[in-house]
Amino acid sequence: MRYFLFLILFLFLSAGDVMPQERVSRYRPCSDPDRIILNISGEATTSMAVTWRTDTTVSESVAQIAPNLPTVRLADTAVTVTGTYTDIAGDGIVSRYHSITFTGLTPDRNYAYRVGSGANASEWFTFKTASAAPEPLTFLYFGDSQGSSSLYARVVRQAYRSAPDASLMIFSGDLVDGGSGGVPQDEEWGVWHEAGGFIHAGVPVLPTPGNHEHYDPAVRGKRDLNRYWRPGFTLPENGPAGLEETAYYVDYQGVRFISLNSDEMMRNESYAESQALWLEEVLKENPCRWTVMTFHHPLFSTSARRDNKAVRERLKPLIDRYNVDLVLTGHDHTYARGHVMPDGMEKRGRRAGTVYVVSVSGAKQYQQDAIPWWDRGMTFTQTWQEITVDGNELTYNAYDASGSLVDHFILKKKKNDSNLFRNSFDAELR
Ligand SMILES: [Fe+2]
Ligand SMILES: [Fe+2]
Repeated sequence: MRYFLFLILFLFLSAGDVMPQERVSRYRPCSDPDRIILNISGEATTSMAVTWRTDTTVSESVAQIAPNLPTVRLADTAVTVTGTYTDIAGDGIVSRYHSITFTGLTPDRNYAYRVGSGANASEWFTFKTASAAPEPLTFLYFGDSQGSSSLYARVVRQAYRSAPDASLMIFSGDLVDGGSGGVPQDEEWGVWHEAGGFIHAGVPVLPTPGNHEHYDPAVRGKRDLNRYWRPGFTLPENGPAGLEETAYYVDYQGVRFISLNSDEMMRNESYAESQALWLEEVLKENPCRWTVMTFHHPLFSTSARRDNKAVRERLKPLIDRYNVDLVLTGHDHTYARGHVMPDGMEKRGRRAGTVYVVSVSGAKQYQQDAIPWWDRGMTFTQTWQEITVDGNELTYNAYDASGSLVDHFILKKKKNDSNLFRNSFDAELR
């Protein structure tokens, strides 16, 4: 009997060695802030949101902000602001995500801020609020960055090198893979933040979620939003109920930027319906001259096997009716750009319909089928896009990872709100 009890005890103690262990993220939080990232969560002219991470020993969410004056005594003039935090347990660690929204700021003004307090305060970062008038605006756009970080990092850094005064960075989904291949999700976010580094702390990020932000390999069939999304960003909650911080809009210097949650649109009829109803209102009441939409699943795919009919049927009539200028998507892991006329109208001359783009900034690349909706297509090429809106003109440039121009066009807005399209890309290369 005694031997039997020993055997039971031995089996019990050794069970821990054979049970699957949670893989621990190599990005452990500490009391110093990391993953510091700016978002616009409200009025871009007078507010700015910042989110960062620490361990759970930091019990206060504190930041300081001051006009970015040349003095070294910034702290003397700074205002201290407190916020809230959320704890996230998973991937072998517990992280505390802090969120603060600076409000009451002056439009078109440079500010300096730091997060945390005492010995754990971050360095001072700087940002600029939006102008109240539609001044010229440059923003960056990145398709899926998921995959090998060693390749994505050079793209985001090259983009910043090219446009250090960019006002926004748009990410069109699948920022991370969502924990596939046994990599902890936290580690993927750590890699993504490491690539963007201080750029995220100075240029507000406008991300839309992809299917991989609705993926959890630990729970088969589970399709909830990635648990790091809402704690990790501070985004607008002006979208349909249940899709806060994933479907939203931001107005910035004469451009209305709209993010939709296309993954929920593909899978959930009620979210498809509520987003379409919400979108129509947001387009109808749009005070801005230009409209840029971003969501993950393209209306027009670059692969015959990856058609997103549900998204196209819901959105195309609204995009046509309200003359959306630019639709920035991802998901297909190739590059394609085409201007597509409203249904029933032929493409003729310089008249532009909405310009649709599929793009990829990361290492994961797919084959491209020859589907002739696009005017420029390429694959196995990481790209990023730099877009400038100046009055009635929108200039679009796409660059590869080495910084070479690989696509270009200009939209000129006419008085009736339709656009003329000019593509001098081929001529410029000759
Ligand atoms: Fe993807
Ligand atoms: Fe995707």
